[in-house]
Amino acid sequence: MDTARYIVDGRHRLNGEVWVHGAKNAALPILAASLLCDGCEIQNCPDLSDIHAAENILQHLGCKTLWETDTNGQKVLSVKPVGPFAWDIPDKLMREMRSSIVFLGAIIARCKKAKLSYPGGCELGPRPIDLHLSSLRKLGVEIKEDLGYLECSVPDKLHAAEITLPFPSVGATENIMIAAVLAEGETVIRNAAREPEISDLAGFLNACGAKIRILSDGTIAICGVEKLHGCCYRVIPDRIVAVTYLCCCAAAKGEILLRGVCPEHLSAVLPVLEEMGCSLTVDKDKIAVLCDKPLKAVSSISTMPYPGFPTDALAPVMAAACTAKGSTIFIENIFQDRFKHAWELCRMGADIKAEGRVAVVRGVERLHSARVRCTDLRGGAALVTAALGVEGKTVIEEIRHVLRGYEHLDQTLNELGACIRQE
Ligand code: EPZ
Repeated sequence: MDTARYIVDGRHRLNGEVWVHGAKNAALPILAASLLCDGCEIQNCPDLSDIHAAENILQHLGCKTLWETDTNGQKVLSVKPVGPFAWDIPDKLMREMRSSIVFLGAIIARCKKAKLSYPGGCELGPRPIDLHLSSLRKLGVEIKEDLGYLECSVPDKLHAAEITLPFPSVGATENIMIAAVLAEGETVIRNAAREPEISDLAGFLNACGAKIRILSDGTIAICGVEKLHGCCYRVIPDRIVAVTYLCCCAAAKGEILLRGVCPEHLSAVLPVLEEMGCSLTVDKDKIAVLCDKPLKAVSSISTMPYPGFPTDALAPVMAAACTAKGSTIFIENIFQDRFKHAWELCRMGADIKAEGRVAVVRGVERLHSARVRCTDLRGGAALVTAALGVEGKTVIEEIRHVLRGYEHLDQTLNELGACIRQE
């Protein structure tokens, strides 16, 4: 049972600098892909429970892993496939995180067979994997689905295919890339996802000797190679963690500097925060934000695949919008059920009407403290964001969701002047 919780004493102005850690959603597929190479060192790898879940899977599959800290104090995770190699993922490990499905392409490419349990729905609504499976079938994989298990085999060998995705699914694009990297011939993925985490996976695989080209129209061409060698690779900064800290500053007020960020990855979010009244100064790998004025609502925010407004940034921005002057309409186009946190924000006095994929936030003068519960990773981050702007103590329960994606969130915020305690 998850009894860990945060107690946040709000209304402390934030001031100082934050180092933004490596991106969870880039590190996870890179870790899956590491099964195919001859040992690698993943620098700037975030130290998070989802990453530990991936590490457990890698160990089960026959890899040795080792954590070290580099001279800048950042984490490095080394992975060495040593064998004996397993081709299954036990249900218990599959359930630790939904994105374990990204190991499917890697196990098939390595072992020519795979068995894993079917990932169920999650906090964000149903999360089908039909696009993963139909794409792998095109690459020559036979897949049987039986009693919640997927049994996969490659009767001949993996071969190249032309795949057009009906929707640019991030996970399906990653699975195809990883499976196709050792397949015979050139695989082409049309309407592939364009998220920065996809480019990072391509960067990692190319550093191991793969031949992947990402074209400007979103097409990805993967020319199969015989084998991959090892590499040292640095994971991109986490763009959603960066947005979360910017929103925390907007809610609590103050002036902070984010270091180690890639502002280009935030091109859809930064204009929204500026419109809300945050003053931003953007440099090559830094963003300074000053939030002193009352926030203003923006007319509407609609989530879209990259380069559109990211679905993962919706919840923290919504938390800031709760006390903005005017109404903001949020339209969620990626997941079916991404407003669960809205009801928790309402417990804190927010005025939010959510129905289906639309939520209307009418800004109120101030929120009040309450006992709330994290419903999912970004929803939990939204509750922390909101609580930082509230007079008095907010109790945030079930923070295991937050720990999946934010490294030392409480400690980092306290270093900026916040008052947050984990119990
Ligand atoms: C990735 O999830 C991220 N997770 C998510 O981050 C992120 O919200 C999402 O991409 C969108 O950017 C990781 O990278 C580990 P999708 P993923 O496949 O790959 C539907 C966070 O908070 N779909 O692009 O699962 C699906 O149901 C998380 O860090 C199918 O219908 O996202 C959803 O509605 C949460 N069939 C939509 O596509 C499929 O076969 C987007 O899913 C696959 C997806």
